[in-house]
Amino acid sequence: MTQDLTGVAGALVARGKGILAADETPGTLGRRFEALGIACTEESRRAYREMLFTAPGAAEFISGVIMQDETIRQRGSAGRPLAATLADQGILPGVKVDAGARPIAGSPTETVTEGLDGLRERLAEYHRLGARFAKWRAVIKIGEALPSRMCVAANAHALARYAALSQEQGLVPIVEPEVLMDGDHTLERCEAVTGQVLHAVFEALDEQGVALEAMLLKPNMVVSGDECAEDASVAEVAAATLRCLRRCVPAAAPGIVFLSGGQDARLATLHLDAINRAPGPKPWAISFSYGRALQDDALQAWHGRDEGLAAGGQALAHRARCNSAACLGTYTDELEQTLFTVRAGAPGRALRDD
Ligand code: 13P
Repeated sequence: MTQDLTGVAGALVARGKGILAADETPGTLGRRFEALGIACTEESRRAYREMLFTAPGAAEFISGVIMQDETIRQRGSAGRPLAATLADQGILPGVKVDAGARPIAGSPTETVTEGLDGLRERLAEYHRLGARFAKWRAVIKIGEALPSRMCVAANAHALARYAALSQEQGLVPIVEPEVLMDGDHTLERCEAVTGQVLHAVFEALDEQGVALEAMLLKPNMVVSGDECAEDASVAEVAAATLRCLRRCVPAAAPGIVFLSGGQDARLATLHLDAINRAPGPKPWAISFSYGRALQDDALQAWHGRDEGLAAGGQALAHRARCNSAACLGTYTDELEQTLFTVRAGAPGRALRDD
């Protein structure tokens, strides 16, 4: 079993490939649709997800897709389950399995992620529905006296319990402890808190007997807070992120797949590229598991219209190609400016016009 899981974990971080996070709950997706005046119905969510999952050419750059409960049960317009539509293209289906972050007793401005009750049974069902990996997100806020020790410890423990259960049920766990970029904190403070959280998470994973070879870490990059007076440069972000990861993430973990966390989509690509270009040891594959930074342009282009489906798919494939290049440290301005096209008559096979 662990050998199969290691193979899946390796495939998720295959050279030049990364993950599309499309696991927003109907509520979160509804808020994004509402901002653009798009009606949020089960059908519109399905149409949007199907556009992302069938974007011509994207499969060359996307190794896996994180769905959520509604999507993994949905069928596309031709009646085929969306999970099977992904698998048909060689994309691994994954699913978010946490039940969301709720206020933590004793520190009401912080949260602990819930969803451990009944998790074993839900994981078994998701595996039957085609999922081969899972995701659980913990949320850590930086504030004057935050995060509290109890918040870090409770979230690390839950992440480790989830990861152990996922491996038991044949799913590769993606372990996502997200230190939010909300606030006026400095780059240095983000580095210190991210390090504290990662140490706690890997200690808990060890305590719960999680096989590091069969999991992926999905961390935040080390950035200055979005209200910090001074924005860290791309080079500073890359250096601080790598320093922090080298100190905290064992080499046995096969890959690190960053979340985008609300960064501008192009900046998220630039940061990933700079991290991969930087000198020094990198014992893990370093890739992406972006939500907003992959989807934002696609959602804008689609705008809820059938006529926007082709442009939406093209926008997704374009960002996926740029981030694929960033995984190799070969992203350039020229690539960013070059529209991604797939030759007619060659469905699924991406040809480049550059
Ligand atoms: P963002 O890249 O938009 O932060 O989303 C990633 C994700 O999976 C959040 O849980």
